[in-house]
Amino acid sequence: MRIVLVGPPGAGKGTQAAYLAKNLTIPHISTGDLFRANISQGTPLGVEAKSYMDAGNLVPDSVTIGMAEDRMEQADAAEGFLLDGFPRNLAQAEALDAYLQGKGLKLDAVLDLEVPEDEVVKRIAGRRICRKDSSHVFHVTYNQPETEGVCDSCGGELYQREDDREDTVRKRLEVYHAETEPIIDFYRAQGLVATISALGKVAEVTERAMSALGSDA
Ligand code: AP5
Repeated sequence: MRIVLVGPPGAGKGTQAAYLAKNLTIPHISTGDLFRANISQGTPLGVEAKSYMDAGNLVPDSVTIGMAEDRMEQADAAEGFLLDGFPRNLAQAEALDAYLQGKGLKLDAVLDLEVPEDEVVKRIAGRRICRKDSSHVFHVTYNQPETEGVCDSCGGELYQREDDREDTVRKRLEVYHAETEPIIDFYRAQGLVATISALGKVAEVTERAMSALGSDA
């Protein structure tokens, strides 16, 4: 399956993607994680992306689209993928359609995670991520690691993301409404969108997502 996950910052896209990718045996491709890996390795791409991310803005399409396409070219993505955080504006959605069309492929579904803004703020304020692998995500109240400050999966140190400061989160939400929400209508016109509530326990949301995708959890 080729799936796009969409939803505001803190909706739980990364958290759900980890379970969905495992259940569906497809790779989880997060452009945010790819940027963070580049930042921690100090690559030129990471240096460029960091200033945009820290300000809560989108990294330019000229950088992002090529990076996402390179990742989709890797062998593990040949049979499908779960895109998390890409596309994030109409130009990226159109580029993805053109990329897939060029290969005679198309998306199967766009899963839209709906969550009220006050819940988003609570989720982001308590989020802690792993320094070794930013796809390992925890929460100080809702999803606690076994040992405080230590990643259950790999033992890495847990920390708070730079862009999770309150003023940056407000900016990210603004950018989401202005630039990312329009892609939901773009995909709705293609009959691809399934909207589910992202409220409730992580496992309940996964179950809802799997049934919206027509698979059993
Ligand atoms: P990115 O990393 O994609 O961030 P985001 O979209 O803002 O999403 P988040 O990672 O903040 O949230 P999430 O929905 O994954 O929630 P999570 O599962 O962690 O992008 C970061 C930046 O990179 C962007 O601002 C931009 O600058 C740049 N970028 C990335 N892609 C780009 C692109 N395509 N184009 C241009 N720029 C791009 O969950 C949040 C918290 O809630 C966690 O603590 C979790 O434990 C907890 N939680 C999850 N589910 C539940 C639940 N059901 N109940 C209670 N708590 C829960």
